[in-house]
Amino acid sequence: MVSVLFVCLGNICRSPTAEGVFRSMCHRQGVGADLQIDSAGTAAWHVGKRPDARAVAAAARHGIDLSPLRARQVTPQDFSGFDYILAMDEDNLADLRAMRPANALARVELFLSHALGQSLCDVPDPYYGGDDGFEHVIELTREASAGFLTHLIARGKIAAHRR
Ligand code: 4NP
Repeated sequence: MVSVLFVCLGNICRSPTAEGVFRSMCHRQGVGADLQIDSAGTAAWHVGKRPDARAVAAAARHGIDLSPLRARQVTPQDFSGFDYILAMDEDNLADLRAMRPANALARVELFLSHALGQSLCDVPDPYYGGDDGFEHVIELTREASAGFLTHLIARGKIAAHRR
């Protein structure tokens, strides 16, 4: 069983989108039924809230339902509970590294490091922008999800088969 935690700042825009996009890609490809997928924020501001309505709408345009998700904050236990912790941007990565317990087992890395051919390192924060920013988040998280799935399959972490 492989476990993956997607992390951004507020856990209402980028990381819930990443969670939904990656879960949907796994389902559509018939892989990763035993994957544990979650998301969290480095900040506590939006704990308990639904994803931003603009993120829900953007995902819905791609057939992905984010409405059941609720924001939570990253905890020290996440570093032993998850195999991969994937940060949306360099600030999230720095915050995660600063709170990482010494005995942590999780691999902490930038999500877009798995987006092959993508020159961006960060998924830009869409919170203060328009709808096109949310569409861009979908596009980037799809690319990175595809690359990350390939990474997991290549390492034998999940079986590559279609149902
Ligand atoms: P996220 O976006 O980190 O992708 O969830 C943000 C959500 C809320 C805020 C900033 C970024 N905020 O300042 O409240």
